[in-house]
Amino acid sequence: MIKNNIIYNSASDWSFNLKKAKGSYIWTTTDKKILDFTSGWNVTNLGWNNSEINKALIDQVRKNVYAPMETADSMQNDLAEKLTNSLPPSLTAVGRTTGGVESNEEAIKTARAFTKRSKILGFHHGYHGQSISMLSAVLEENEMKEIGPQISSVVRMEYPAVFRSKLSEEELLREFGEKLEKILKYEDIAAILSEPGIITGWGSTYVAPKGFTTLVRQLTKKYGTLLILDEVGTGFSRCGELYGMHIEDIVPDVVTFAKGFSNGAAAIGAMVTTSEIADKTWQVTNLQSTFGWTPVACAAALKNLQIHLRDKVWEKSKKDGEYMKKVLTKELWNLDNVGDVRGYGMEIGICFVDNKDKRTPDENLAKKVVSDAFQKGLYILYGSDGNIQLMPPLIINRKDLDKGLEILINTVKKINTS
Ligand SMILES: Cc1ncc(COP(=O)(O)O)c(C=O)c1O
Repeated sequence: MIKNNIIYNSASDWSFNLKKAKGSYIWTTTDKKILDFTSGWNVTNLGWNNSEINKALIDQVRKNVYAPMETADSMQNDLAEKLTNSLPPSLTAVGRTTGGVESNEEAIKTARAFTKRSKILGFHHGYHGQSISMLSAVLEENEMKEIGPQISSVVRMEYPAVFRSKLSEEELLREFGEKLEKILKYEDIAAILSEPGIITGWGSTYVAPKGFTTLVRQLTKKYGTLLILDEVGTGFSRCGELYGMHIEDIVPDVVTFAKGFSNGAAAIGAMVTTSEIADKTWQVTNLQSTFGWTPVACAAALKNLQIHLRDKVWEKSKKDGEYMKKVLTKELWNLDNVGDVRGYGMEIGICFVDNKDKRTPDENLAKKVVSDAFQKGLYILYGSDGNIQLMPPLIINRKDLDKGLEILINTVKKINTS
């Protein structure tokens, strides 16, 4: 786990040293060329080393690289304007951060200050970053005993994953809604923290029943709880819409971004909320971040957003994602060890299971698929719960997409018959 003096630099037996990367391909220091189906875990959505974004970053280096926190560089103003214009009209105020976990921390501080309530509701199986409070929102006490104690003011619910339930989607949604309402009716929950209808973080790719985000929105409004949508993974065209909130067309009180925000060119995140909420909370939330929104990172993020809007990247993501699901379902669905193919846009999970009940996750099998595919030149990721997570760069051409799907399908079929 410590390789070349870096901790967590060899998290799997097939990990590699990266030499260069371009578009949908990565080259290792041993000169192996690998087709990428990870986008660095939903970061390089517009392809590795996107030349327009890298140029914007370099141009900004020539102008100015830093602005103190209590001021703003014009590049920051431009990005704030473009970002808020791309969101529903009520979301107008931006907190400047360096990444996902920081954005979510700002979001819960803001929700607590605004509602004057302390509790946060999160979902078991979700993921919102590695801080103690974000882990507390999604993990049970025994799952973090070595690094605990947890923060106490969290309430966790089981995620209503369609695949894990024996109920129909409608019944599952109804049962979930009843449980949620029982918790919210005490009017002591400041915010619900969730991704919009799919879990991209931590790799389960669990999908909630249709209507989940709409129902959560209705109930949070009814009981004065804020809805924080974590769009760190779902944002920037990954799920077939510019933002995951568009899947069910709901407007959250707070939304957070990172990852695909700068396409990996620089560390940047954002917490965006309404002017009303920001006005009533900024004095106490103290949204400072020394390196949040350096002008250089903003230049990359601004160009990134311009490209998503100019090319309507989400349309290709939706179309290619539907194609991927169709091919994968046709080829793999009937195999004994494949339990599910699911997802939105180009965020797709394949769940490997014990062939006896078709439900118990088979982690070893999923990891073997990842490792064997890597040997054949395809980079995919093992997530969790027996699930591999497919997240190709959204700009991938059909030839490379087909090539990757072929390697994957052959790998899975071979393992299933051996
Ligand atoms: C959905 C989601 N939220 C938050 C985070 C945390 O982001 P960061 O690693 O930038 O802190 C991640 C990271 O994987 C994520 O997938």
